[in-house]
Amino acid sequence: MKINNKYFAHESSYVDSDVSIGDNTKIWHFSHVQSGAIIGENCSIGQNVNIGNNVKIGNYVKIQNNVSIYEGVELEDYVFCGPSMVFTNIKVPRSEFPQKGSKHYTKTLVKRSASIGANATIVCGVTIGEYAMIGSSTVVTKDVPAYTLIVGNPGRIVGKVDKKGNKTK
Ligand SMILES: CC(C)(COP(=O)(O)OP(=O)(O)OC[C@H]1O[C@@H](n2cnc3c(N)ncnc32)[C@H](O)[C@@H]1OP(=O)(O)O)[C@@H](O)C(=O)NCCC(=O)NCCS
Repeated sequence: MKINNKYFAHESSYVDSDVSIGDNTKIWHFSHVQSGAIIGENCSIGQNVNIGNNVKIGNYVKIQNNVSIYEGVELEDYVFCGPSMVFTNIKVPRSEFPQKGSKHYTKTLVKRSASIGANATIVCGVTIGEYAMIGSSTVVTKDVPAYTLIVGNPGRIVGKVDKKGNKTK
């Protein structure tokens, strides 16, 4: 894979050699883009962000500070990841019985323009639908339908939203 020289990576960040990063994407302080990752154009990758091996990220995605996008997570265009939100890729982790390597990772898909609030946690294996809105600190344990607002722990549907995120009912 080729390095595209039209993106910006702060000097304190690490970008592994075999990644693809689109034009105009910015990678800020202390972040790490790992091997095989594909990041689209016009993305903003904040401070202290980790993009795991082989992760695929679309265009115009915003990732706020302190977020790890683990292998098995895919973000479509215009996804917003709020500060310190958490993805996972193993549903039942045990240090004593390690599950290492791609075949163990449970996938999570975040579809176009969905927003995930600050400090939310996404338990792996779910699909978050287009334009869905996940409230801050929500724990997502099930699929979230498109244009749906969910909050709480565990996350529960509390309404619908339009493209701009305004509540419609
Ligand atoms: C707690 C856990 C092990 C349960 O797994 P499970 O037994 O397969 O649970 P299910 O998905 O069948 O969910 C059972 C119920 O518990 C709820 N639930 C599951 N995980 C929850 C969580 N973390 N917080 C709140 N509720 C949770 C589900 O919403 C569901 O509720 P319902 O019965 O009202 O529908 C798992 O959901 C989890 O949180 N794993 C930790 C993931 C993680 O942190 N990984 C780190 C390494 S990447």
